Amino acid sequence: MDPRKNPFAPGAGSKPPALVGRDAQIESFDVLLERLENGYSEQSMIVTGLRGVGKTVLLDVFREKAEARNWATVEWEVEKNAPFGPKISTLARRALLQIAPKTRWTDRVRKAAAILKSFTVTFNPDGAVTAGLDIETLPGAGDSGELSEDLSDLFIALGEAAKEQKIGVIFLLDEIQYLQARELEAFITALHRCARRSLPVTLVGAGLPQIPRLAGEAKSYSERLFTFPRIGELNPGTDARDALILPARALGVEFEPEAIDFIVEYTQGYPYFLQEYGKFVWDEAPETPVKHDDACSVRPLVEAKLDDGFFRVRADRTTELELTYLYAMAVLGPEPHRASEVARSIRRTSEQAGPIRSRLIDKGLLYTPGHGYAAFTVPQFDRYMLRRHAGIELSDPPAGRPKATIREDPTS
Ligand SMILES: Nc1ncnc2c1ncn2[C@@H]1O[C@H](COP(=O)(O)OP(=O)(O)O)[C@@H](O)[C@H]1O
Ligand SMILES: [Mg+2]
Repeated sequence: MDPRKNPFAPGAGSKPPALVGRDAQIESFDVLLERLENGYSEQSMIVTGLRGVGKTVLLDVFREKAEARNWATVEWEVEKNAPFGPKISTLARRALLQIAPKTRWTDRVRKAAAILKSFTVTFNPDGAVTAGLDIETLPGAGDSGELSEDLSDLFIALGEAAKEQKIGVIFLLDEIQYLQARELEAFITALHRCARRSLPVTLVGAGLPQIPRLAGEAKSYSERLFTFPRIGELNPGTDARDALILPARALGVEFEPEAIDFIVEYTQGYPYFLQEYGKFVWDEAPETPVKHDDACSVRPLVEAKLDDGFFRVRADRTTELELTYLYAMAVLGPEPHRASEVARSIRRTSEQAGPIRSRLIDKGLLYTPGHGYAAFTVPQFDRYMLRRHAGIELSDPPAGRPKATIREDPTS
């Protein structure tokens, strides 16, 4: 069918043509905003889930909602080892200018600007983000060099200015697992202090599933500050089907139920895979309704696209030894595995395999769902490893095949 009309939207953060299965999170977000607007405190949210389940898309929805309610919104997609101080300065400055344009600054807003300047000078001595803040620093606030304290001073000042201007401030942080422990701790401390003062400053985040544990390690009271809703596959009986049917129907195209069954089963309801499949089958199917045969025949195209893009960009970042570790996990199956068991599969002790596992966590390919366990951050990564790296040999090849030695990783 006409590719120019293709509604499907595969891609990181691409807005899906039908956003399905996220009503609960969107409802919680509405409640959060409304409660904060009315001076009540409310647990904020950090959405967790594997790659491609729709976390970034959901943050975008949150941002649009907050903007529609006239909140000051600032976004940050955290990158590994991103310089924290300068980034926070930029975000806070952006928030401040949304709280009130400079021509309408009151004493409270000016005080926040002065603390921001102190913070900026402290954490970004040679930076240019103070541009436009032609204001004196406020000695004794935001300038101790102690990150948690100074960020708290800054957030409280922002919150007081925002409250006065009858506006709220929301930080939207994507890939929040890349914050360093002390940065996450500073955020949690600062937000906690705002919550205790009923100030309308909050953070919603999204990240890989290890984030609740990281937050708990940073501050034990983080569970009281945040909920950690986990999002994942769409319900195969309802939402996953709607993700395909609704966008097509809006353009006069129907699917045979068997075609939908096939796609939902193959994709397991993972949002990104559904979009990718929908896109291909739309382009390749000759006419409405899309038939079971159409769905079957594009499967190799979809798989090649996923393998060469989504999966490979991640696999390419690994060394041979790391790849062997991933393959050993894939052989064990898609579910989380004990680190000790994986180590055994590659003929190493847990101590020897530990650094390999750590690097894979660091590279964002694995996470630890519980102590001593490791799991893939990418859905169906096991299937990818089995079909694309079947040549890798582990310690216990099937009877009759010689044991291969694993080449040492020069970086380990
Ligand atoms: N609720 C949803 N329904 C249908 N498709 C979705 C939904 N959420 C996300 N998608 C699609 O999934 C893909 C990945 O979304 P993204 O937000 O980038 O995931 P993540 O941030 O979790 O890696 C995009 O192509 C997007 O259009
Ligand atoms: Mg994302």
